[in-house]
Amino acid sequence: MIPLSSDTESRPTEAMRAAMAGAEVGDEQKGEDPSVNRLLQRVCTLLGKEAALFLPSGTMCNLVAIKAHTRPGDVVLVERDAHIARAEAGGAALAAGVQLEGLAGDAGRFDVDTLFSRIAGTRLAPATHAPPATLLCLEQTHNYSGGAVWPLASLREVADGARAQGLAVHLDGARLLNATTASGDTAAEFAACTDSAWLDFTKGLGAPLGAVLAGSAGFIAIARRYKHAFGGALRQAGIAAAGCLHALDHHVTGLADDHRRARDLAAGLAAIEGVHVANPVPQSNIVLFEVAGHDAAACVDACRQRGLGLSAVGPRLRAVTHLDVDDAGIARAVEVVAEVARGRA
Ligand SMILES: Cc1ncc(COP(=O)(O)O)c(C=O)c1O
Repeated sequence: MIPLSSDTESRPTEAMRAAMAGAEVGDEQKGEDPSVNRLLQRVCTLLGKEAALFLPSGTMCNLVAIKAHTRPGDVVLVERDAHIARAEAGGAALAAGVQLEGLAGDAGRFDVDTLFSRIAGTRLAPATHAPPATLLCLEQTHNYSGGAVWPLASLREVADGARAQGLAVHLDGARLLNATTASGDTAAEFAACTDSAWLDFTKGLGAPLGAVLAGSAGFIAIARRYKHAFGGALRQAGIAAAGCLHALDHHVTGLADDHRRARDLAAGLAAIEGVHVANPVPQSNIVLFEVAGHDAAACVDACRQRGLGLSAVGPRLRAVTHLDVDDAGIARAVEVVAEVARGRA
């Protein structure tokens, strides 16, 4: 199987497994796991933040951050197709009691005027009637827009605008290192625009689990309580953290290869009759496309029968490159989609 349905399909390498097996461990819940503590220090430096928390997943980073930044009844502004809005099982409403308001975006981005008009919209009624907008969440790269990168200058303008209106700003950095690879800007530069930010190790970085949420010491102290409340306080988590440290040491430079392969894939797909590629020059590692006359879900099944894993995102097909897909896999993926597009059994 060519595993292009998601970069989460990447498997730990032998070297990563060896690093995990040999990890020094302790009780993470008590702050005594040396491997977790090393990872937290490393991410604090990378993101230029004071403090950090190890969590099992990116979804839990978003949830803990939203809970720590808000009070029940608050409004949280997000781009309308953000992962938080579309793919986190309603956790923000369920566990934080907040109201998500989706902003219209283009490639996952919006400008400061769109932000301000939405903030004004939440304040149409008298202050005692209107739910307060207290948090803005940004996503970098933007998953459902094909891994689009939000350029630093305009992300900073929007984040500064939100902060000037008294909102906190949170960055969903599931693929932040893909953005830094694509743009040449640093993770610390993006994170400096925001009050909290996190990195996921299970996407292009290839670890089996783990994400780190970072922010000020005060924010992380509050977030630690919700990590515990949501069941995210762990024990010998150093085994997982060692995989994340290994990923930071060995898998970051490979993200550029993933991006080049996504561009190769997009070019190969675009040359097939009946295939429309929504992002013909992908900025990072995600390609979105449609096959004329084929329903996306049926197309996923037909490709899977031929040994190609893809996913359906609404009416589109999504292919995500990562360290377990090589050039031969990309070439074969193009052949399989061509066969399906031609309607051959
Ligand atoms: C943009 C974005 N945010 C958050 C998540 C959630 O991460 P996790 O799968 O680690 O919970 C994902 C996962 O695909 C994502 O793409």
